[in-house]
Amino acid sequence: MTVQPTVLQELPADLVRERLPRHVAVIMDGNGRWAKRRGMPRIMGHRRGVDVLKELLRCCRDWGIQALTAYAFSTENWGRPSEEVEFLMTLFERVLRQELREMMQENVQIRFVGNLHALPTSLRDEIERSVTATKNNQGIQFTIATNYGGRQEILKACRAIATKVEQGLIQPEQIDEAMFERHLYTSGVCDPDLLIRTSGEMRLSNFLLWQMAYAEIYVTDTFWPDFNRQEFHQALCDYQQRERRFGKL
Ligand code: IPE
Ligand code: IPE
Ligand code: MG
Repeated sequence: MTVQPTVLQELPADLVRERLPRHVAVIMDGNGRWAKRRGMPRIMGHRRGVDVLKELLRCCRDWGIQALTAYAFSTENWGRPSEEVEFLMTLFERVLRQELREMMQENVQIRFVGNLHALPTSLRDEIERSVTATKNNQGIQFTIATNYGGRQEILKACRAIATKVEQGLIQPEQIDEAMFERHLYTSGVCDPDLLIRTSGEMRLSNFLLWQMAYAEIYVTDTFWPDFNRQEFHQALCDYQQRERRFGKL
């Protein structure tokens, strides 16, 4: 996948602009298996996965998709060998540092969701820098889920709301979906319309549990490091064939 970042690629003719998802979420899975198949260490898959994400972001921008959210590290991923965890944290930090200029040029607004307090300080600094620098950018909203867990996010919202009730600031009857959403990390971003998971796994793995209530799910057997524009095009074609009923007839 070698595409010049500055060249805007047109929307393929078989995709209808009005029927594109506004928000695409992606579970970037299969890096380790991709590397293992090639007799390489798992980290090589993660490294390659970064290029694939960059390309997907560019593709979303080219085709007019408003928001992309990528699952980079789950609250459960701390359970991996410490060398892998450390590699990932360093990789995130390096990529953020290297890519900020281009993100600014491409008008990308970067956001992070997850419990950022538990991340290494140097990574947190890089996160803060990129979020602050891009916060007024009007282009695609690019959210990276790092140390993210859907259950943890829901509990955090419950705790914050319970505290407000305890302080007498709100009544329990006032708690509705809109209020709850304002207490989630994703506040202000529309729910994902399309979830793509690579590597064939048919599960959510604790990703955006609340927000995914009505997302269309697309699973491909392709490992994340091999995911490309053609695959994404395929996922969007598939999505456009879906009838989203939202419980109605
Ligand atoms: C996804 O690839 C990346 C992260 C979870 C950080 P994996 O590392 O889960 O790769 P597999 O699933 O073991 O092949
Ligand atoms: C989900 O992948 C998390 C990320 C892609 C960051 P995992 O590889 O951690 O998920 P499981 O363990 O297969 O459910
Ligand atoms: Mg995995």
